[in-house]
Amino acid sequence: MAPTIVVEKDGLLPSSMPYTSSPRGGMSSLRATVYIAITLVCASTALWSLCPQHYWGEPVVATNLCAQASAVNPVKHAELWSSLDGIYATETFASRAIEWLGGAIRVPTESFDNMAPVGEDPRWEAFGPFHDYLLKAFPQVHATLALTKVNTYGLVFEWKGSDESLKPLLLMGHQDVVPVNPDTVSEWTHPPFSGHFDGKLLWGRGSSDDKNGLVGILSTVETLIESGFKPTRGIVLSFGFDEEASGPQGAAHLAEYLQEKYGKNAFALLVDEGGDYMIEHGKVFATPGIAEKGYIDVRIDVESPGGHSSVPPSHTTIGLLSALLVHIESNPYTPKLNRGTPMYMKSQCLAAHAPKLPSDLRKALLAAEKSDTALRAAEKILFEDRMFKALVGTTQAIDLISGGVKTNALPESAWAIVNHRIATDSSLTETKEHDIHTLKTLAAKFNLSYSAFGEDITDSSSHAYGKLTLSDAFHAGLQPAPITPLDAAAYQLVSGTIKATYDAHRGGDEVIVSPGIMSGNTDTRYYWDLTPHIFRYNHHYTGNDSLFKDIHTVNEYIEVDAYIEMIKFFTLLILNADESTDL
Ligand SMILES: *[C@@H]1O[C@H](CO)[C@@H](O)[C@H](O)[C@H]1NC(C)=O
Ligand SMILES: *[C@@H]1O[C@H](CO)[C@@H](O)[C@H](O)[C@H]1NC(C)=O
Ligand SMILES: [Zn+2]
Repeated sequence: MAPTIVVEKDGLLPSSMPYTSSPRGGMSSLRATVYIAITLVCASTALWSLCPQHYWGEPVVATNLCAQASAVNPVKHAELWSSLDGIYATETFASRAIEWLGGAIRVPTESFDNMAPVGEDPRWEAFGPFHDYLLKAFPQVHATLALTKVNTYGLVFEWKGSDESLKPLLLMGHQDVVPVNPDTVSEWTHPPFSGHFDGKLLWGRGSSDDKNGLVGILSTVETLIESGFKPTRGIVLSFGFDEEASGPQGAAHLAEYLQEKYGKNAFALLVDEGGDYMIEHGKVFATPGIAEKGYIDVRIDVESPGGHSSVPPSHTTIGLLSALLVHIESNPYTPKLNRGTPMYMKSQCLAAHAPKLPSDLRKALLAAEKSDTALRAAEKILFEDRMFKALVGTTQAIDLISGGVKTNALPESAWAIVNHRIATDSSLTETKEHDIHTLKTLAAKFNLSYSAFGEDITDSSSHAYGKLTLSDAFHAGLQPAPITPLDAAAYQLVSGTIKATYDAHRGGDEVIVSPGIMSGNTDTRYYWDLTPHIFRYNHHYTGNDSLFKDIHTVNEYIEVDAYIEMIKFFTLLILNADESTDL
């Protein structure tokens, strides 16, 4: 696929040259002279279009970054697709889609943090009525696909393909929703579990996360069966029920079931919830998540002698812990935008395709592929956006603290927990080492023996005043996810399907597909061994609507037209994957 780099011409003008002085961007002095000569000639004539673009671009343009796949449309299934596209455009289908999704929203399926396992915690029983609803709403799916319930409420639907040598397609979604805070119910324009349709928008908890994904997949399969489609490539649907609580009861068991039955690397590709598509800097971008940050909660325990509060030491245990925490916040991780990372690639896509990107940023980004100076300059501008900066680097947030029992007793112990989201190009080990190092000087200053993650950091035999211990709180943490390969048929197919869906629904070739990451983890964290081709993506157009900023809060909704476009995406994905011979 030929690279398509569309930039404003000023992005290529000589003013973008200061970066070429860095070691990586250096040119021989002869080449530089030739370059400058041609630059001057071209810049001083009206014959811009005749000037050799490679002379302009060579030192600064990222030539093969953000190449775009062409739209992929069904060939073997062209007639079926055309008939389905017609069906999706009807009022009858819109009413069905609204009823399907609205009905699902009306069955509350909240999942809470720290729920006891299925069988012990009665709150899981909310998922029984949801299964009843799905059975009633999607009779063809239940009659045609084999359904297995894993750990009672996990759902796996399997649709055998006629050619068992082809790796199946795996589609995921989650049944649970974020709990509705009872104090905020009155703030909802329409009650959170109403599934109210106002003529344009469908309202309620789960309408955007992720009953739209789950019901969208089931609506697609129901309609495909009604239209007589029989898959050549197998299709597996896997729906967890505690994604919003990290997935230990749902996705963890589902992934284990799938791996036992199908084996490692058994699926052609996997699509789960994830990035939406929207307008960024004047251009429509679809951003499938190709990676996820890692995660660890580091617990800090401090112990020091107790006693009566009337004769206190200069620092109590709580004071010591506080000093350590202040030190942690004063020494944050230094985020670094590195070449080859998903966020770097996302930036390059913006530089290549977004018309309203500030021109100083574009210039820096286009030069960044070869110049470290330019990369740092781009980074500086990009990091002014807190969200972007947080996605790039390892973050730290002190989220829990505890210590002390009585006003007249010196606390003997105190603890806090620091939540980290680990950069895609870092690791659990690097994060632990950073934290160990950060507290070393203070531990010595306060005369605390120091151990971390089961190892002594200071000599444990020496006599100390107190004790500092770092450990994994709750669980051992999660490495950053493996990065989905971009030079693969699966990425081409997903990109091309996004483009074809956009074209079918909105017309034209206006959407740019860019790799990216999401701020949180999805159920896919358990699925890494099933396929390297993992895409966290909802073909959900959210425009630039500010109402949509936080789906986990009040007034969650989805535009029905955008929801029907999601169904078209799932349809095209299934049909394209079915006839692909490259996957
Ligand atoms: C550290 O504390 C222990 C126990 O209170 C004490 O014996 C020792 O002298 C202290 N060391 C320093 C360097 O203050
Ligand atoms: C984006 O939002 C702004 C402010 O609400 C609005 O003026 C603009 O028309 C919107 N752009 C698009 C393309 O929807
Ligand atoms: Zn979700």
